[in-house]
Amino acid sequence: MTSPPSPPSPSSDLLAARDLVRRSRRVVILTGAGVSAESGVPTFRGPAGHWKRFRPEELATPEAFRRDPCLVWSWYDHRRQALAACAPNPGHGAVARYLEANPEAHLVTQNVDGLHQRAMRPEGSAVPHPRIHELHGSIARLRCSGPGCTWAAEDPRRIDASREDRLPRCPSPGCGALVRPDVVWFGEMLPEAALTAAFEAASRAEVCIVAGTSALVHPAASVPLATLRAGGTLVEVNPEATPLSPHARWCLRGRAGELLPPLLAEPDPPA
Ligand code: OAD
Repeated sequence: MTSPPSPPSPSSDLLAARDLVRRSRRVVILTGAGVSAESGVPTFRGPAGHWKRFRPEELATPEAFRRDPCLVWSWYDHRRQALAACAPNPGHGAVARYLEANPEAHLVTQNVDGLHQRAMRPEGSAVPHPRIHELHGSIARLRCSGPGCTWAAEDPRRIDASREDRLPRCPSPGCGALVRPDVVWFGEMLPEAALTAAFEAASRAEVCIVAGTSALVHPAASVPLATLRAGGTLVEVNPEATPLSPHARWCLRGRAGELLPPLLAEPDPPA
């Protein structure tokens, strides 16, 4: 009988980074599309990424929505339906357990897929986690596109984008403007509360872990710089180098679903 293959032993960088994370309480984790890649969600700039197949200015700008709301909605509806078939992966699970165990930890995410929230909360709960800061919004939420109207709601239902008169409209009395996905489009401001909370947490953090982002889109990619400016340490988890790599004390090269669980694991209880 042969014994099952043992898992590869963790690298010395992983062990060193894990030790620092264990000794720290104020930890910020910044994630990007790569963290959801192992759940089957396409990234933006990878070989099969959204921006390799589509032009952002045709699908992800306020002008595009004004010009052709059916086209924009059909792309978002397709992504919403595809996401319904995806589940959080071990990377999301590790982050969720870490946030639960460490009341001073914050998660800042550029992802609109809601998989971090789904890994944290019981199925069906729509209450956002107070230490998850979604910098680019959420694809499961809708909001009014009308000027000055603040209506928004979590609603992952299918959108019929076959004709403009079938698109959802704002239910606020006297409004009736088209409803749009509650995500940040190119040229738009990021949600102020999430942005402020992200930079506050990062500037207090002893460690910032950056996982699965190309670190090309600001201000999100500047969040780890706030930790560095305050004297904290940067740890990168990504199969590839990014503009943040030269600033990282440890660059853990590999997949988030494989590296985040050991990086964020609680120490074993004493025997
Ligand atoms: P990108 O597609 O730009 O980058 C994905 C990163 O994930 C790359 O650096 C990959 O090397 C890495 N990656 C791929 N698979 C991975 C895995 N299994 N584990 C860990 N890392 C992996 O996605 P983002 O950086 O998230 O903005 O893109 C930032 C923003 O640009 C998005 O939020 C979106 C886009 O335009 C808006 O839509 C506003």
